[in-house]
Amino acid sequence: MAAYVLAAQRATGQDDEQRWEIRRVAMVRDQIKARGVRDLAVLDAMQSVPRHRFIPAEVRGSAYIDSPLPIGFDQTISQPYIVARMTELLEVEGHHRVLEIGTGSGYQAAVLASLSDQVFSVEIVPELAKSAAETLRSLGFRHVRLRTGDGYEGWPEYAPFDRIMVTAAPPELPEALVDQMAPGGRLLAPVGRTSETQRLVLVTKDAEGRVRRRPGLAVRFVPMVRSESPR
Ligand SMILES: C[S@@+](CC[C@H](N)C(=O)[O-])C[C@H]1O[C@@H](n2cnc3c(N)ncnc32)[C@H](O)[C@@H]1O
Repeated sequence: MAAYVLAAQRATGQDDEQRWEIRRVAMVRDQIKARGVRDLAVLDAMQSVPRHRFIPAEVRGSAYIDSPLPIGFDQTISQPYIVARMTELLEVEGHHRVLEIGTGSGYQAAVLASLSDQVFSVEIVPELAKSAAETLRSLGFRHVRLRTGDGYEGWPEYAPFDRIMVTAAPPELPEALVDQMAPGGRLLAPVGRTSETQRLVLVTKDAEGRVRRRPGLAVRFVPMVRSESPR
């Protein structure tokens, strides 16, 4: 191909990325800062992770709107504000070992991996796990480990975790996940039997292992399903 054609294609690609970035700046300003998220590291992560790369082509044009979006298999990528608020509430530090349940598109895992060196994520739908792995690899997030499996079991081989974020809603808090929290750990999960009754629950475990649960924001997440066959 002629050099000028390649140069033109590269320039078009750069223009596209600049257009996405302008939308991302507006998303962080209007949807996230405006609603009170203040943590600078979280705001930086929301600004730097290219959300559009995690969105299926059919709906990519809506990547930066104030809404969850479909990612296939009846699942969704969460609304940007919810991703930012949950990440802020989790108080992630660079040395923390972080577990996410519900990889979905891989976007939340990428935001967490912008804050921590050790991110683990479990997804029950194999096709989603595969495409999230490809997206994360293509963006250079090599320190995210993914597993296809049932998040009700957590990931015992790598426990305990300093931080756990659950991004699908179980009817009750899964005890295996509480058991896999490190002393001083935090866990955040949308808990509820129906989408009308879900609350975001913050669980803390102190240095002596005492557990406290505090229900917060009303939220609406897809249900956390159980695997049909024992693993
Ligand atoms: C709201 S989506 C999560 C969005 C995701 N965090 C993202 O950034 O795209 C919920 C995800 O949880 C997954 N899920 C549901 N039940 C699960 C389970 N028991 N274990 C692991 N993943 C589960 C769904 O397949 C879906 O991908």
